[in-house]
Amino acid sequence: MRNRSLCYFITILLLLLLVVVFLILGIWGISQWFGGEISDNQADVFYSESYKRAAEIVKKLNLLPNSTWEARLNPSAIEIENQDRSSFVISNDSLGAELQTKLEELDGIVEGSEFREHYKRHVKILSSVEGIPTEFHASDKWPECTSLTEVLDQGGCGSCWAMAAVSVIGDRMCIASSGLRRPKISAQQLIECCYYCGGCNGTMDPLTPFIYWFESGIVTESCYPYTIATDCGYPCLPETFYPTKGLGKCRKNCVNRRERFIRNYAKYVYKIASLKVLVNQATLYDVYTSLFGKNITSLELVKLDLMTFGPVVLCFNVFESFLHYYQGIYNKNMGIHVYDHCVKIIGWNHDGSHEYLLAVNSWSPKWAFNGTFKIDLEMLHNFRSDFYAGVPI
Ligand SMILES: *[C@@H]1O[C@H](CO)[C@@H](O)[C@H](O)[C@H]1NC(C)=O
Ligand SMILES: *[C@@H]1O[C@H](CO)[C@@H](O)[C@H](O)[C@H]1NC(C)=O
Ligand SMILES: *[C@@H]1O[C@H](CO)[C@@H](O)[C@H](O)[C@H]1NC(C)=O
Ligand SMILES: *[C@@H]1O[C@H](CO)[C@@H](O)[C@H](O)[C@H]1NC(C)=O
Ligand SMILES: *[C@@H]1O[C@H](CO)[C@@H](O)[C@H](O)[C@H]1NC(C)=O
Repeated sequence: MRNRSLCYFITILLLLLLVVVFLILGIWGISQWFGGEISDNQADVFYSESYKRAAEIVKKLNLLPNSTWEARLNPSAIEIENQDRSSFVISNDSLGAELQTKLEELDGIVEGSEFREHYKRHVKILSSVEGIPTEFHASDKWPECTSLTEVLDQGGCGSCWAMAAVSVIGDRMCIASSGLRRPKISAQQLIECCYYCGGCNGTMDPLTPFIYWFESGIVTESCYPYTIATDCGYPCLPETFYPTKGLGKCRKNCVNRRERFIRNYAKYVYKIASLKVLVNQATLYDVYTSLFGKNITSLELVKLDLMTFGPVVLCFNVFESFLHYYQGIYNKNMGIHVYDHCVKIIGWNHDGSHEYLLAVNSWSPKWAFNGTFKIDLEMLHNFRSDFYAGVPI
C-alpha cells in the first residue's frame, strides 16, 4: 500500500513537472517568436486592445510613403496614454511660496550682471568661430571623451531632465579638461537634493539642474549612484513613477564613506535658444542678437555652442510614434502627444532633403538602435525645441 501510494505520488509529481516544463517552453517560444522582447508576465498583453492599437500604429507608420524612419513595436510602450499633463512640467498653481521665491531668485541669477558679462564673452567667442560644417559628430572632435555616446537609463522616474543634464555636464567637464577629467555626474543627487529642480514627475524648467550645478555643485555617480529601479521597461510607463522605487532622502556623504563628497561647479549656465519660441525666457540668442544683430539663426547658435563647448540638452514634445522609433530620421508623422522629454544632442547631419540632429536618449541601449536617434529639424522648428547648457569651472 505504502509503495503504491508513493508510486502514485511520484507519477503525479512527474506529470506536474511535465506540465511546468511545457508551460515554460511555451512562454519561451512565444517570447522568441516576438523577437525575445516580451517577457512572460507581459504575455497576456498580446491580446489586449492597447496591443492591437499599438501594432496598428506601427504598421501605419511603416506604410507611410514619405516616412524617413523605421518603426518597431516597443512592448514597453503599448499601454501609453495621453498623460494629460502637458509636459512633465509641473503646473504653476501647485507651487509653494518657498519654491516660488526660489524660482524668482534663480531668474535673478540668470538675468543678473555677473551672468550677463559671462554671456557677452561667451557669444563673442561663438561669433568668432569660422564656418559651421554641414555635418558634425562630437566623438570625432573629442574622441578622448567616451562618455559622449554613453546611453543612460532613467528607469521608473520622469528624470529625463536630470539624465540629460548630467550627461551634458560630464561631457563638458571632459572636453574642457581635454580628457584629463572624465567624471560621471550624479543624477540621483539632483532628484533627491534639488528641491526647485523637480523630481520623478519632471521639471518646471530644464535649466534648473544646471543652476543647481552652479549654485550647489554636483558629485559623481560613484559617490551618489542612481538607485531608482530600471526594470520596468524602456521607457517605463509614467504609472511607475509614483511611488518611486529606489528613491531616498538627500545624502550628504558618499555611499562609500571613505570617498570624499566633492562637488563640481559650473562657471555659468544658460538657455541657448528655442527653434520655436513658446515662452518668453532669457536666452543666449537674445544676447547674441543684441550685440551682433540677427546675422545667424538660433539653430546656428546652437550648432556653434555644440561644436565649441560640447553637447547640449534638447527638450521636445514626445508623440506616441517616438516610443516605437527604431532607426532613421524621426519625424512625428502621427500619434498623440504623450509628454515632453529632454535628451542630449551630440551632432547634426543631413540626408538629401532632411537635416537632423543626433541625439542620445536615456531609455537604455535597448530602446531603438543602441538607445540613440536622429531627429528631423523640420519637426523641431514646428514644436517645442528648447536647448540648454553650461560651462564648467
Ligand atoms: C506662474 O504664474 C505667474 C503669475 O501667476 C506668471 O507670471 C509666471 O510666468 C508663471 N510661471 C510659469 C513658469 O508658468
Ligand atoms: C506626480 O504625479 C502623479 C500623477 O499626476 C500624482 O498623483 C502625484 O501626486 C505627483 N507627485 C508629486 C510628488 O508631485
Ligand atoms: C555676425 O556679426 C559679427 C559682428 O559683426 C561678426 O563677427 C560675425 O562674423 C558675423 N557672423 C556671420 C555668420 O556673418
Ligand atoms: C508625411 O505625410 C503625412 C500625411 O500626408 C503628413 O502628415 C506628414 O507630416 C508627412 N511627414 C513628413 C516627414 O513629411
Ligand atoms: C551599437 O552597439 C554595438 C554593440 O553594442 C556597437 O558595436 C555599435 O558601434 C553601436 N552603434 C552605434 C551607432 O553606436
